[in-house]
Amino acid sequence: MAGAGDRSDAVEMVRAAADLHEVVSEYVSLKKSGARWRGLCPFHSEKTPSFYVDPEKQLYYCFGCSSGGDVFKFLMLYEKLDFPEALKSLAGRYNISLPQARGGETSERQKVVAVNREALTFFREQLARATGEKARRYLESRGIDREGAERFLLGYAPDGWSGLKDHLGRVSGQAREQREALAVVAGLLAHKEETGRTYDRFRDRVIFPIVNLADEVIGFGGRVLGDGEPKYLNSPETAAFSKGENLYGLPFAKEGIRREGHAVLVEGYMDAIALQAAGVGQAVATLGTGFTSGHVRLLKRFTDQVVVNFDPDAAGRQATRRSLETLLENGFEVRVVSLPKGKDPDRYIRDEGVGKYRERLAEALPYVEYLAREVGGRVDLGQARGKVQALNEILPFLARMDNPVRRASHVELLATVFGIEDRIVLQELKEAVRERRKSVGERVAAAAGGPRLLSEAEAGLVRAVMDDAAVRAELLPEVGETDMPTGRAAEIVRAVRRLSERGEEVTYPRVGQEIGDEAREVLTRIAALPHPPATLEAGRGCLSTLRATIFTRQMTDIQKRLEQSGSAAEINELLRRKLALKRQIEALRGVSAS
Ligand code: GTP
Ligand code: MN
Repeated sequence: MAGAGDRSDAVEMVRAAADLHEVVSEYVSLKKSGARWRGLCPFHSEKTPSFYVDPEKQLYYCFGCSSGGDVFKFLMLYEKLDFPEALKSLAGRYNISLPQARGGETSERQKVVAVNREALTFFREQLARATGEKARRYLESRGIDREGAERFLLGYAPDGWSGLKDHLGRVSGQAREQREALAVVAGLLAHKEETGRTYDRFRDRVIFPIVNLADEVIGFGGRVLGDGEPKYLNSPETAAFSKGENLYGLPFAKEGIRREGHAVLVEGYMDAIALQAAGVGQAVATLGTGFTSGHVRLLKRFTDQVVVNFDPDAAGRQATRRSLETLLENGFEVRVVSLPKGKDPDRYIRDEGVGKYRERLAEALPYVEYLAREVGGRVDLGQARGKVQALNEILPFLARMDNPVRRASHVELLATVFGIEDRIVLQELKEAVRERRKSVGERVAAAAGGPRLLSEAEAGLVRAVMDDAAVRAELLPEVGETDMPTGRAAEIVRAVRRLSERGEEVTYPRVGQEIGDEAREVLTRIAALPHPPATLEAGRGCLSTLRATIFTRQMTDIQKRLEQSGSAAEINELLRRKLALKRQIEALRGVSAS
């Protein structure tokens, strides 16, 4: 028996080990915002994110609904757990053993499974009896008849506080108290801290037992009949049950998966059941969490092809993305079904029939194509910048794919969807995909005709004249008009020259006032990126590189003209210039290399 001291030690250990950002990320898509993380609040409905996670303080807060607290509070609110359940769940997750957990002759896991099995018997009896009438009618309204209910082992938790509790009390063989304590651990009974009394946790709910491949009843999902909050009540994480390690319906689906060669991944219990009942036997559901590497390991035993069919709302799209990432990293071939807005698979087959659903399934898009269309719908592909952004959103996904042949096969598709005709862009894209790069940049933007980003040499020269007054005084007179004829770097350098000629201060904000928006954007980026202090040598090196680039370009022009020109005099003149350029370039290489 653990004293209060032990217990609070355990609480503090769990608190220290738990990472709020990591835990919240399983439920909410978070983006970095300064030192904090920001996302859409899971506790109220909103369109602009006002939910913050502070990793430093290990606290979350929503400016919209004023909900806030630590990692325990978050789990309790989100998962509808009480404190001991939240503690247990986190302790399990971070491998911290709680003082209560003692290894006996029978493991806690076995005990939880046993009490679950008894509870299931009770729930199923209740569904079949007069008390279950309401639940049977509800299930029928959703297209599940008695046979369906039996097939999926559905049950009913009656209204009232002690139906299950009394049932468990009647089962002989173990002291009533121990059995109750176990039922509390299993999340079947809830425990009121103040009175010490226990009561049924699932009340007036349809029960979906969660069965694993070993045919153990590891947990339950309980749905309200009709509307009500929370819609689903789930078993907490226990020694037997981990949402990230199990999938709903897998025992029913494994034959279908083997037969069809793929699994259909849906979000809801009802979706998995409706699909299976309609003959789409390869459907499995996640358990109200994202798709994890645990799920991957589980599925991999049966297939490496998955069709993802999540709700098409924004949250569903996020879930789809995260699932794709996890699946791709593990070598799965992934396709994506998108159903019309507002229709989950269950709704869709009831409205349109399973035949239509099978058609959608057959037309499911390979994930890259799905993603390309999704990104393409958001960015302006008419603009070079849009194209680069779209490509850069997709390249990280391609980079995750192990198989080079599969990666390469996506290039043509991207080119088509994004309307990339330019040879250079296509080449760059192929290289990026082959090398598993996560982005394309300058060259693609330049080739695609968009506003050119700066080369390293241009950025280096800008830094040299910006950062150090002494370097500036030496270097500026050396920079000629022809060294940087065009572009944003030239605009910046011209502004620096003007200011220093007038004897004005040269600072980033001051120069920013002198130049256009695009040049200012570039200047800001240069200021933000880490770099070594400016030196005259580095500045001169950049200048040489720039000149060499210009001369090389001129040489290419001359070469072209040589190939076309006729008169001997002209050829002689061109050859002379070419030789001169070549010497200049060689001289410059010497400088920039040293
Ligand atoms: P129906 O509304 O009956 O069709 O449910 P559904 O199975 O389609 O569920 P839905 O798409 O609303 O949610 C998908 C899954 O998220 C569910 O199957 C549950 O696993 C989980 N979920 C939904 N609502 C809740 C809730 O209130 N609490 C918890 N813990 N999980 C939920
Ligand atoms: Mn549904």
